Amino acid sequence: MNQISDRVRNVVQSDIRRMSRECERVGGINLGQGICDLRRSPSSWKGACEAIASSKATYSKFEGIDPLREKIAKKCERFNGFSVDPASQIVVTVGSTGGFATAAMATLNAGDEVILFEPYYGYHLNTLRILGVETKFVPLNPPDWAIDFDALRAAFTPKTRGIVVCTPSNPCGKVFSRDELEKIGALAREHDAWVYTDEIYEYIVYDGRRHTSIASIESCRDVAITISGFSKTFSVTGWRIGYVAAPAQIAAPIGLVNDLFYVCAPTPLQWGIARALEIGEDYYTKLAADYEKKRDLLADALREAGFTPYLPQGRTTCSPKCRRSSATIRKRRLRCSRNRVWRRCRDRRSTLPIAERSCCGSASRRTSTRWKKRADACARSARHASDSAPNYLNPRASGLS
Ligand SMILES: Cc1ncc(COP(=O)(O)O)c(C=O)c1O
Repeated sequence: MNQISDRVRNVVQSDIRRMSRECERVGGINLGQGICDLRRSPSSWKGACEAIASSKATYSKFEGIDPLREKIAKKCERFNGFSVDPASQIVVTVGSTGGFATAAMATLNAGDEVILFEPYYGYHLNTLRILGVETKFVPLNPPDWAIDFDALRAAFTPKTRGIVVCTPSNPCGKVFSRDELEKIGALAREHDAWVYTDEIYEYIVYDGRRHTSIASIESCRDVAITISGFSKTFSVTGWRIGYVAAPAQIAAPIGLVNDLFYVCAPTPLQWGIARALEIGEDYYTKLAADYEKKRDLLADALREAGFTPYLPQGRTTCSPKCRRSSATIRKRRLRCSRNRVWRRCRDRRSTLPIAERSCCGSASRRTSTRWKKRADACARSARHASDSAPNYLNPRASGLS
């Protein structure tokens, strides 16, 4: 007996996860997945260690410990600009990934349609697919990733139940403006659809921009399901603490699904994050400034190597322009001896050089010289292979998704 479910048949390991495994295997510096190796804030790990030492290690409420939900509510008010009731409108989830999955499970039926902006974050697509949700794509147009609102309007059908907004966006680094969010919200409301926002990179915005949560726009408030987490903000990607903020009638079923699949997010780590949320404002300013420096460093390296990088407006990556290839070329196995970040690839999906997929400036200061050299080499190598590289910014067109 070797049946696997129809549900997982079309789901494959995500490209970023694949690249992370490959990178670990060859001992490279991972410029692909948003693995933040900045120093963790001492308050977060002290809070978690104290919770472990004092045996706060049992299951928490499925919606999360009260102090954390209260602090998240304060953070939403202070930083995101909307008020939320910690008792009924916040669910602490297993990362924002768990937040998106539980929100989608609680609100969507198989056969419903959800709109994704393209380029999209692969986990969003695959989560929807596994639930049997149909997806529609609306391109964001480079270089500034503008939204074609006529195309967006045309993508709505009577079956549309939601639209996903990732801001700052993975992978293109677009930061959605208030005006854009207002228009998206208005369309969603008109079609009775939810707006699922993934705001995991909310503190990492550049060039004096400000992050806007769609929930902070009065007219969009009741269609917004706000999803975020602390992986990137506090450099604790493995802690798996995120949250969903949503109207109470939706937060309740999201909590039930969270209970069913995860029981609760790891309790001691919830205490750690509750402590980290006491940190002063200058932490967040410095975080964005550090990433901005790294973005510029990587962009310079890519320019020197002959690429034209799309400068991200937020998030941790920098994407070089590269040509789309033919299917035949995509199947080629690449070997790059100069750069250990690349390795012989086993199949067409792993032929993407890491520099072209997403170059994450998340190396620590300790490693930044080594990292710059590696980024230089990686960009040089990517130039040589750019003719044969798939267009990861449009993976569907490249047959990659
Ligand atoms: C857009 C986006 N959402 C969610 C995540 C994962 O967040 P978490 O660790 O909170 O599950 C990532 C990680 O790279 C991401 O890029």
